[in-house]
Amino acid sequence: MTVVTGRTGDQLLGLAVNSFTSVSLRPALVAFCVARMSSTWPQLRPVGTFCVNILAEDQEALSRAFAAHGPDRFSGVGWRPAPSGAPILAGALAWVDCAVEAEHEAGDHLIVVGRVRELDLDHEGRPLVFYRGGYGRFEP
Ligand SMILES: Cc1cc2nc3c(=O)[nH]c(=O)nc-3n(C[C@H](O)[C@H](O)[C@H](O)COP(=O)(O)O)c2cc1C
Repeated sequence: MTVVTGRTGDQLLGLAVNSFTSVSLRPALVAFCVARMSSTWPQLRPVGTFCVNILAEDQEALSRAFAAHGPDRFSGVGWRPAPSGAPILAGALAWVDCAVEAEHEAGDHLIVVGRVRELDLDHEGRPLVFYRGGYGRFEP
C-alpha cells in the first residue's frame, strides 16, 4: 500500500493507492492509477509533483484514514516535506518524490506516470499489503 501525497500552498493532499508500480529504469518512471472521480487528483495535477509513501505493515490505520472521505486526513499524522514539498509520512518505509510526466486515460481511471526525482528508504521493515479485499503482511 502507498499513500500519494502533495502540497499546494498550505493545503496538504493525499490518498491511499494500491495501484503503484515501477515502469522504467532509464529514465526512472513510476505510475499509479487514480479514479476519474477522485477529488484529490484535480487539486494535485496542477502542482505537477507528488510523493509516493510506501507504507509499513503497522500502518493499516493510516491507509484507512487516507481512503476515507471526511475530515482532514492529515490530522494527527506526522510528516516532513520531501524535496518537492509533498509530505513524507512518518513511519513509511520509503518515499519516491516525482514530477508528473504524463497522464493517460484508462476506463474509469487515469494512469499517472511520474518521473522520479528523489527517493529514499526511511525504515527497515515489511510493507503493508492489500490482497483479496483485506489488509495483510508478508510472513517473516
Ligand atoms: C486498499 C485501497 C486501495 C486503494 N487504491 C486506490 C488506487 O489505486 N487509486 C485510486 O484512485 N483510489 C484508490 N483507493 C481509493 C481512495 O484511497 C479513496 O477513494 C479516497 O477516498 C479517494 O479520495 P479522493 O476523492 O480524495 O481522491 C484505494 C482505497 C483502498 C482502501
